[in-house]
Amino acid sequence: MDRHEHWNSIYQTKAVSDVSWFESEPNTSLTLITAASPKRGSVIDVGGGASRLVDRLVAAGFESVTVLDISEIALEHAKARLGVQANQVRWIVGDICQIAELSRCDVWHDRAVFHFLTDPHDRRKYVDLVTRTLRVGGHLIMGTFAIDGPLKCSGQDVCRYDARTLSHELGPRFNLVRELSYTHLTPTSKPQSYFFGLFELLPQSIAPTIGSAPRTAEDLSA
Ligand SMILES: C[S@@+](CC[C@H](N)C(=O)[O-])C[C@H]1O[C@@H](n2cnc3c(N)ncnc32)[C@H](O)[C@@H]1O
Repeated sequence: MDRHEHWNSIYQTKAVSDVSWFESEPNTSLTLITAASPKRGSVIDVGGGASRLVDRLVAAGFESVTVLDISEIALEHAKARLGVQANQVRWIVGDICQIAELSRCDVWHDRAVFHFLTDPHDRRKYVDLVTRTLRVGGHLIMGTFAIDGPLKCSGQDVCRYDARTLSHELGPRFNLVRELSYTHLTPTSKPQSYFFGLFELLPQSIAPTIGSAPRTAEDLSA
């Protein structure tokens, strides 16, 4: 089963509120997005799925809101919930590792998507795309399973991160300005440790050079 079929089958067979990553209120994400963009500019939620974050971003009056996901079924759930307000959102169906270009944005948010990229080539494509998409001075908010978090989600292997490994993975243009950890409780009350980093995209000219420093989580643990 490929990625697209895998995620569609999850959203076809499970209720949106029964998936392990479900949050009734995406408070951590909303707090970090609002801190990153107090003027409420343009935001993309990558792998947003059926999350309620989009509802909150529309309600908060963000200038432009885009939700991208590999599963069109996930996005249909979100659109149905939003009703006519869905027209205020740009919806993109696609694999983030296969997309060539996205519209420039102020904030790129990802909760629990990057950590599924276990192939370094996929991570490279992802990082290249976010670097091309964010405006300089814009922010990447990334939430992944923490170092003591689960090894798998939805039957898929994940990579787990902390500030050091995620910073190395993203490279020198992403400057960590805020980090936080929290425990998410799944709908069956299982605790899962998450790490969230808020990174500012630096101009190429002032990003520190990393020389021969390791770039990937694998390099760091080697
Ligand atoms: C664990 S869920 C998290 C959903 C949402 N971010 C949240 O916090 O509720 C992972 C989401 O990423 C999507 N996804 C997985 N791999 C993807 C990829 N390569 N490109 C785009 N979306 C992807 C899945 O369809 C799913 O909606």
